[in-house]
Amino acid sequence: MDFDNGLIHQEGRLTINNFLPEIGKDQLRNNIIAGLEKNPKMISSMFFYDERGSEIYEEITHLPEYYPPRLERTLIFKSADYLKDSLQDHDIIELGSGDCSKISIFLDSLSESDISSIRYVPVDFSQSAIVKSAEMLVEKYHGIKVLGIVGDFLSHLETIPNGKERLFIFFGSTIGNLEVEDARRFFKDLYETMGPGDRMLIGMDMVKDKEVLEKAYNDSQGVTADFNRNIINVVNRLLDTTMDPNDFEHVAFFNEEKSRIEMHLQAGKEHFLEIPGREPIWIREGELIHTESSHKFTNDDIERMMDEAGLVIEKIFTDEDRWFSLILLGKQ
Ligand code: AVJ
Repeated sequence: MDFDNGLIHQEGRLTINNFLPEIGKDQLRNNIIAGLEKNPKMISSMFFYDERGSEIYEEITHLPEYYPPRLERTLIFKSADYLKDSLQDHDIIELGSGDCSKISIFLDSLSESDISSIRYVPVDFSQSAIVKSAEMLVEKYHGIKVLGIVGDFLSHLETIPNGKERLFIFFGSTIGNLEVEDARRFFKDLYETMGPGDRMLIGMDMVKDKEVLEKAYNDSQGVTADFNRNIINVVNRLLDTTMDPNDFEHVAFFNEEKSRIEMHLQAGKEHFLEIPGREPIWIREGELIHTESSHKFTNDDIERMMDEAGLVIEKIFTDEDRWFSLILLGKQ
């Protein structure tokens, strides 16, 4: 994570701003300690994505069992084809843009003259990802303007420029990681920030056969298990502890009542974490630490949630099995 603030870079068609509040190590530490003092214990899934975690996640996206990226890709083609004639002079704002590989699929469907009229605004936590991908995009798409924003789009939607008509894009079903209440709030905030012509294209992973879901998070090569356990390395660095990730077992299952995949780490032995100036934290043998929830939606859930927020579903792009959906939202 990076801590510089303000205007980071401006050159030709490329501008980068950092709106992240100065999050220091102390705050991250306190976040982890508070989670480990809860009952049941939890560690926020944002701690998955250190450098190694991002690499392992990239590997997950290539696993045969992990269907979302593959399906979403074909739906991005479809949606781009549908939208391509209505994006002149737009700001295309991508939330959680990461390495920008998905937006490239989208932009490839647009004409050169449309691309020259567009400003692409990637928003992500990671300054290095923003800088790298923004530089790549101005190279690859002649005429495109890029405004990179380093920030937390979940709580700072209002830092996103508002002047032209906007298409928000939120790929990857990351919305599924939020607690139901937080997802609702996100759509309400979105409604508030959207102008009359603005739209959002959002990826959502659908409820399906439990076996398919559970395999996607328990792959045969154990990559997801490594991804899950890597969070222990992140905790060690922040708390100065020395837990061995291999002393934890990867547990992932579909919680039908809550309609979500839950990932946990199960301690194979007990741990005492000594934390200067605080009560030690005790992790019992066999205790579960919740590391991620990934909600799966039905069409009814989606309709209800959008309705509540005041958003209108313009179109749903989905595959023939309805395993994944890209939803195009507008505002009445
Ligand atoms: C990147 C959050 C969409 O929830 O499916 C993949 C993360 N975790 N395998 C998801 C993840 C385990 C992924 N998201």
